Formats: sequence, C-alpha cells, structure tokens
Amino acid sequence: MKTYSIAVLPGDGIGPEVIAEAERALEAAGDRFGIPFTLQRFPIGAAGVAAAGDPFPEATRAAVTRGDAVLLGAVGDPSLDQAPRHLRPESGLLALRAQLGVYANLRPVAVFPALVDRSPLKADRLEGVDVLIVRELTGGLYYGEPRGRDAGGAAAVNTLRYTAAEIKRVARVAFEAARQRRGHVTSVDKANVLEVSQLWRETVTRVGQDYPDVRLDHLYVDTAAMRLVADPKAFDVLLTENMFGDILSDEAAVLVGSLGLLPSASLGEGPGLFEPIHGSAPDIAGRDVANPIGAIATVALLLRHGLGLAEPAAAVERAISLALEQGARTRDIAEPGAPALGTRAMGERIAGLIGVSHTESVGPAERNAKAQHA
Ligand code: IPM
Ligand code: MN
Repeated sequence: MKTYSIAVLPGDGIGPEVIAEAERALEAAGDRFGIPFTLQRFPIGAAGVAAAGDPFPEATRAAVTRGDAVLLGAVGDPSLDQAPRHLRPESGLLALRAQLGVYANLRPVAVFPALVDRSPLKADRLEGVDVLIVRELTGGLYYGEPRGRDAGGAAAVNTLRYTAAEIKRVARVAFEAARQRRGHVTSVDKANVLEVSQLWRETVTRVGQDYPDVRLDHLYVDTAAMRLVADPKAFDVLLTENMFGDILSDEAAVLVGSLGLLPSASLGEGPGLFEPIHGSAPDIAGRDVANPIGAIATVALLLRHGLGLAEPAAAVERAISLALEQGARTRDIAEPGAPALGTRAMGERIAGLIGVSHTESVGPAERNAKAQHA
C-alpha cells in the first residue's frame, strides 16, 4: 500500500495544540485501518516569521506541493497586527491557498444531537440542520488588484473581481456536492447592487442548467445571513464568493454551538488543504482548553477528500459523535460551571474511539441502564 505523505503546518496560537490531537487521530485511524502515513511539520504564519522571517517560508512552500495533503492549524498573532502586509501571518495563509490553487472551500456545518442545547438558538430550529458551505477561496476581494493605502494613508482600495471561469469551477463543486446530498443549491450574492454579483448569478444559473436534478435558488447575502439563523433547515448547499463565505461560515458556527467544532477542506487540482475554521485564538493559546474537535473533524475531511479513504473518515466522525454522546465536553461546549476536558484529554478520548464498534463503546451511564434492564 502507498505511504501517504502529509505536510503538517501547526501555525500559531492554539494551532499547535489542536494539531497535536489531529495527528493523534490520524495515527489512530492509520493503526486501525492499516494506512501508512508520514507526517512532517513545517512553520507558517507568525511561526514562519519567527523561524525564517517569512509567513510562508521557502521550505514550507516546497513541502506543500510535494505531499498528498496539507493539514493546517491556524495562523494569526497579535504581535504582528501592525506589521507590513508581507509579514502578516494571514498573508502566509493566503499565499498557501493561492499556491495550491484550492479554489473550493468546503465547510460542512451539521448540528450534533448531543449539543443541541449548547446553541443560543431554539432546539426545534436546530435538529437535523446539515449545511455545506461551498466558499470560493482564491479570488474576490482577498486577492483583487489594485489594492492598498494611498500615499498619506487617508484612503484605501480593494478590488472585487471575478471571472466567469472562476465562478463556473466553484459552482460545479457545489452542484456535484448537492447531488450527493439533498439536491439543493442556494447561491449567495448582492446582485441588486454589484456587477460582480450579476455575473455570479448569471454564471451559476448557466452551470445549473447542466444539473436539472438539482434545485437552485439565489439569495442576497443580507437575506441569507438572516435566513441562516431564522430557518437553517432551509439550506443544503450554500454557494458563496470568498468574503461572503468567510462571514456566513462564522455565523453558521453559532448553529452547532461553537466555532471550535467546525472543519474545512479546500480543494483544487493538486493536494488539498485541510484546516479547522476557528482562528488562532491567542487569548486561550497554550492553556490546554481549546476544543480539538474542529481539527479532528478536519482529519476526517482529509481522509475522505484528500486521500479518498471514506471508511476511516467515517470512523473518525463516528468517534467524535460517540465522545459527545458519552458526555465528553471541552470548556466551550460544557454547561456553565460543569467540569470540562482539556484539549489533550478530549483528543485522547476521541482517538480511543476511532474504529471501535458502537456496542464496545457504550459509556458507563448506558451500561448501567442496560444492566438494570437485564
Ligand atoms: C478563515 C479565516 C481566514 C479567512 C483568515 C485567517 C485570513 O478567517 O479561514 O475563515 O478570512 O479566510
Ligand atoms: Mn473566517
């Protein structure tokens, strides 16, 4: 069997802590399913600036295209908030996405039944919520030129530009995904105001004609933001440009109860990039309180979309659900005042459940209940 080589970029803040647990899960899946991996670590973000004076150092740049997939923690550090753009951690991440050409960012948002009461929304709105955000990732305002501050600094410009080809390829990803799901794409734009959005809507509509089995509707971004919390069950696949997707995916995290739970996969023609959607959270870094579930769920996406290994991917996802059903909670998803597991303990708990069948894994409460019924 092929040995898969994964470039691991822990990055900044809580990145290294959650990535350690992601690696533990990957190794557990490798053991249970007999998949050989090599994991090699490289710096990015503020860690890249510290190691090599560059948020996307040359050695990291070379490594990411060589491997089968890239696993990333998070970038961002307040000490570089005032640094020039080429030294900012976020510039390293944007350069990485551009180099890999990962234009389609998949952000699945599915509510865990065990955590329905952890969201500020009412439980009856949340049960069965399962949205896939497909966010365009290598175009739009994040990359458009010209950009920058005017001399003197009293004005600034960014450019929103998309070509029909860029819209078409990400739209295809959304329609293909909808076919594997509930057959519904909602495309987000601001076509009542922006020319780019008019091109977006026309192009998505044209692509949709190749998918007559998929229902397509269009929402303005402001309406989409409202609908996402008012009636999240209305969504199956949510297709967005880069900036709208960034904003709506943080909003969607409120549905599941914590930003710390959500994974993402960024796909293009070459190796995929896999990262949890939470940031570097410098305020809680190094304290063993961060939730590693987003990073571990990212491992499932890496196995499924990066390496084509569906069964181990499902086993990782099952282990996360089982741990939650057994009552395992990190601080962000625990009841106020209730005891919580640290990052590492949660990671160990989940790793221990990977590939374990459901009957072997019932928790003490369930076991007692069973004994009483026997
Ligand atoms: C995300 C993050 C990044 C983004 C930042 C860190 C550049 O917020 O992945 O959602 O805006 O894409
Ligand atoms: Mn974001």
